Parts: sequence; structure tokens; C-alpha cells
Amino acid sequence: MSDLPFTSALITGASSGIGEAMVHILGKAGIPQVLVARRADRLATLAAQYPDVEVLTEDLTTDDGVAAVVARVESADAPIDLLVNNAGFGTSGDFYTLEPERVDNEVRLNVGALTTLSRAALGVMVPRGRGFLLNVSSVAGFQPAPRMAVYAATKAYVTSFSESLHEEVHGSGVHVTALCPGLTRTEFQDVANWDDHQKRSAPGFAWLAADDVASAGLRDVAKGRALSIPGPLYKGLVAASAMTPRMVLRKMSGLVQR
Ligand SMILES: NC(=O)c1ccc[n+]([C@@H]2O[C@H](COP(=O)([O-])OP(=O)(O)OC[C@H]3O[C@@H](n4cnc5c(N)ncnc54)[C@H](OP(=O)(O)O)[C@@H]3O)[C@@H](O)[C@H]2O)c1
Repeated sequence: MSDLPFTSALITGASSGIGEAMVHILGKAGIPQVLVARRADRLATLAAQYPDVEVLTEDLTTDDGVAAVVARVESADAPIDLLVNNAGFGTSGDFYTLEPERVDNEVRLNVGALTTLSRAALGVMVPRGRGFLLNVSSVAGFQPAPRMAVYAATKAYVTSFSESLHEEVHGSGVHVTALCPGLTRTEFQDVANWDDHQKRSAPGFAWLAADDVASAGLRDVAKGRALSIPGPLYKGLVAASAMTPRMVLRKMSGLVQR
């Protein structure tokens, strides 16, 4: 992808999966980057592969971690042209059995950090009359997901929030996009504690490659699209779910997650 318009980028969750795939795309295009995640070793290995890469080793479930990244986003010395709010995780299981601290952290990261960083980015981008905000959501946000209830709810927030911002800043020179991937091969499923049965129950054709998801999201935010849904399968599923009664969606989703 040699025609990307970004002059610089900050990517959260850059140490693996979709975020790491974006680092390679942007790095090959020669775009200066700031990489954010907790695993310093992974970030250092990535940073060594491309020129002009900064590393911020921060935990975005903490106030200090978010504040450090806000400061970098707002810095006038080396402005950030593209912010990708990609860091996120899910948790599989019945809600009432989940560890409370993990539930809090899931909301802090998927919703809290993303909202605070979006505010920081638009606060500098809109007055500048230029910028790109790509918030990584999920197709899981388009319907309830029993046994991934918190995750689906956080992603429903991300999609709604990003679509609202897209309209708010329309005409300002700033583009806001929600990237809504379906199942993608990354570390996500292990982090979410999926068991082997869950992993095997998804057919091969349902899996997306992180590279394809990353390039679709970057292409769509560059084009100024409100929503980016990679792959024909998931475009079709999202269109079908919009026409399906909520009660039916809820029941079907519950059956799939069993
Ligand atoms: N894979 C899928 O099927 C799928 C589908 C739809 C949407 N998504 C979304 O895509 C995004 C990226 O996920 P992925 O699939 O690429 O999973 P992944 O491989 O597990 O990557 C998650 C990234 O988030 C970072 N992260 C996690 N907790 C963090 C924290 N507290 N502070 C800072 N960074 C943190 C991780 O880095 P460290 O561990 O080094 O901190 C890692 O770089 C997520 O928002 C996810 O919800 C994934």
C-alpha cells in the first residue's frame, strides 16, 4: 500500500495481531510511527525493523499509561496524523463467573482508554483541519453475544461512538472510522480463554488474516468511510443482522456461543 496519506501514526496494541500487521504496512510505506503496548521486547523487535519508530511501553488499563499516551498524541513537536485505537481484549464465559478485576480492565481498555485517546486526538486534529482516527471495533458489536457479553457491549459502544464522531467532524478535514473485523487469526482467542472446542467450531472460511484486516482498515480510514467491515462474508452477515429481529439475533447468538 504505497498510496497511504498518513504523515505519522500512533498504534495502540502494536505488539501482536492486527496492530502488528498495521506496523508492517505503515513501516514499509516509510511512515513514522509510535508503537504502544505492554510487551517492551515485542515492540523493540518491531521498532528495529523500520526507521523513525518510537516505542511507548504502557498499560492502557492504568491512568498513568493512558496519560502518557495522551501526552504523546497531543504533542505539537511531532504531530500524530493517524491514531489507531486497536488495543483490546475479550473474555469468554458466563458473566457472573468472570473475575471482577478482569471485567473492569476489559471496559477500561476497550471503552475508557479508547474514548480518552479519541478525545485527545480530535482535540488537536480538528483545529489542525486534518487527521485520521481508526477505532478497532468488531462485528461482535452488531448483536448481543451471550458468554462474551462484556466484549460485545464494549464493541457496540466503539461502533456507535465512532459513527457519531464520524458525523460530528464531517467537513473538518478529519476522518473517523470504526473497523469491525470478524474472526481474525491473532492471539485474541487465547487471551479470551477460548477452549479448543470454540476454536474448532468456527469453519476455516470464517477466519480472516490479520494482514487483510489491517490493510482494509487503513484503506477505509484513508477514504473517509464511517465503517470498515473486511471480507464479503462479514459484510453480508452485518447486512443480514440489520434485517433480523433482535429476539432472533439474540437466540441465534446464544446458540452459536454454546
Ligand atoms: N482477532 C479477532 O478475531 C478480532 C475480531 C474483531 C475485533 N478484534 C479486535 O482487534 C483488536 C486487536 O486484537 P487482535 O485480534 O490483534 O488481538 P491480539 O493479538 O491479542 O492483540 C491485542 C493487542 O492489544 C494489546 N493490549 C492488550 N492489553 C493491553 C493493555 N492493557 N495496554 C496496552 N495494550 C494492550 C496487546 O499488547 P500487550 O499484550 O503487549 O500489551 C496486543 O498488542 C482488539 O481491539 C480486538 O477486540 C479482534
